[in-house]
Amino acid sequence: MAAAGCLLSRLEEFFAMREVYLDNSATTQVLPEVAALMHKIHTGTYGNPSSPHRKGVEAEKVKRRARRTLADACSVKEGEIYFTSGGTEANNLAVMGVARRLRRRGLHLVTTQVEHPSVLYACRLLEQEGFTLTYLPVDRDGVVSPAVVAEAVRPDTLLVSVMHVNNEVGAIQPVAEIGGLIKKKNSGTLFHVDAVQSFGKLPVQPMLWQADLVTFSAHKLHGPKGIGALYKRQGVHLEPLFHGGGQEDGLRPGTENMAGIGGFAEAVRLAMASLPAHAATLSRLKESLLTGMLASIPDISCNSPKEGAPHILNVTVAGMRGEVLVHALEEEGVYLSTGSACHSRRPELSHVLLAMGRREKEVEAALRFSFSQINTEEELAYALEKLRVAVLSIRKATRR
Ligand SMILES: Cc1ncc(COP(=O)(O)O)c(C=O)c1O
Repeated sequence: MAAAGCLLSRLEEFFAMREVYLDNSATTQVLPEVAALMHKIHTGTYGNPSSPHRKGVEAEKVKRRARRTLADACSVKEGEIYFTSGGTEANNLAVMGVARRLRRRGLHLVTTQVEHPSVLYACRLLEQEGFTLTYLPVDRDGVVSPAVVAEAVRPDTLLVSVMHVNNEVGAIQPVAEIGGLIKKKNSGTLFHVDAVQSFGKLPVQPMLWQADLVTFSAHKLHGPKGIGALYKRQGVHLEPLFHGGGQEDGLRPGTENMAGIGGFAEAVRLAMASLPAHAATLSRLKESLLTGMLASIPDISCNSPKEGAPHILNVTVAGMRGEVLVHALEEEGVYLSTGSACHSRRPELSHVLLAMGRREKEVEAALRFSFSQINTEEELAYALEKLRVAVLSIRKATRR
């Protein structure tokens, strides 16, 4: 009897201490292999790649290898990858860099209403500098029509910026079709794709997409935070955001984040080595959580498109406030998000769900689950049960 009691309390302890992290679109855990390599760079190959001595040459080799890993992962040339401090900087550099460099050729840019704030805020800034922006609508699945993009392209359009996978709902934009139509309409218009949420999960193919610029970030694929990259097709010229040294061909001056660069490349190497297997795991996890939610929680609806990315599931639990559920689940060790993590601490309604035609009440009640290949079915079963109990008890309390 005493043994059974002891076992029960040990089980309770186990469940009480559980951590189920389902906010992988906000950021991911750094993999041990990545952390180990970063430690080696911090303590061993710590030279400045600009130094002419052996420590510098060693560091330069690390950087070159990393650049090659990224270039190979998306079938582009090594010299077309530029390291930045993350996706935000790469998006800013692409959008503002094109506009400021080419302003004598035109003043018009096109984007969508569902881009990440690092694109949208850069666009707003350009409007203040005298540029004209067109923000294209999306359908109920969050997808922009390629024909509508092509229609928006004018003779003076400098750039079109469309993300690959939306970070809030997982909508996949038809970037290959969009790229083809843009170039057909105006071969001088540049095409930028924010591939932060797709890199390492779906094939990223700048050449196939006819993209001139593509953004990447390490921390969404189990790499470190504060490191990203921009693919810039050879022959495209940008105005840098920073000024100083000649690093990254002067496009991104500043002493390189060497541990970040090495860690990024290791994370990419690991992701690319198992991309199809990971994508299959993510799809299975997403499908199983959605099926479980629809079966066990009344009045829940899915905001993510059926054909969306395998790792993002956005749902609305009618009558609830998303943030209340996020905090209730946090108490049980389950971590998820109400909307986009980059700005979810602010009580702003998701611009993505609003653009998808959801009503304010539906947007307030939205939750985003985002998966990694290191999540398990068992973790999802735990999260589902905790969500079910939280929803039922909140609904019961508010009915009183
Ligand atoms: C689609 C998208 N683009 C850009 C970013 C910004 O990347 P970073 O956090 O590396 O600045 C994010 C981050 O959430 C994102 O989801």
